[in-house]
Amino acid sequence: PFRIAVFASGSGSNFQAITDAVKAGRLDVELGLLVCDKPQAAVVDRADRAGIPSFVFRPREFSSREEYEREIVKRLKEHDIDLVVLAGYMRLITETLVTPYYGRMINIHPSLLPSFPGLNAVEQALEHGAKVTGVTVHYVDGGMDTGPIIAQRALAIGEGESAESLTERIHKIEHELYPEVIQWVREDRVRLDGRRVRVIM
Ligand code: GAR
Repeated sequence: PFRIAVFASGSGSNFQAITDAVKAGRLDVELGLLVCDKPQAAVVDRADRAGIPSFVFRPREFSSREEYEREIVKRLKEHDIDLVVLAGYMRLITETLVTPYYGRMINIHPSLLPSFPGLNAVEQALEHGAKVTGVTVHYVDGGMDTGPIIAQRALAIGEGESAESLTERIHKIEHELYPEVIQWVREDRVRLDGRRVRVIM
């Protein structure tokens, strides 16, 4: 089996979409592990209910980022994880994790990168008066939302559209796109060549 780990910090609607896609047979992977840095996050309950093992930790209980990232790498190896899927994991990832998993770690971000990286991407787009925004899935490198881009979907921002409405529409796109891209990786159709990504259709 092809085993994935999902990293999330919050509600976990993308985690749920991935779990649902596996159940529906649209995504041929085994959800081997949830990694979560917030013990109170709703995503932890979602994993428990789905019977998916989780590694939940409190960053403050480690002496450094390097120390908890080393622990995460250990867990990923124990669970024989082939692909790391960041889905609303709100922490910067450093070389301790990036180096062993480069090319095997992807992230989803709620904007058309390189526009609006970092936190509150939906609000950033509205503040800039952007007319178009979207969703990006990319490989993770050491930067903040800077890695090679695998897939993007664009959407037009409505006149006077609220952050709530735009967030909801972006989530809907994410929930369709992310399982699809993970399945491409599963089928070995995503090729990373320097900064360029080629998807074999
Ligand atoms: C998603 O919209 C994801 O794109 C975003 O967090 C949300 C998590 O929602 N990620 C980032 O902003 C990363 N910079 P979820 O917990 O319901 O899946």
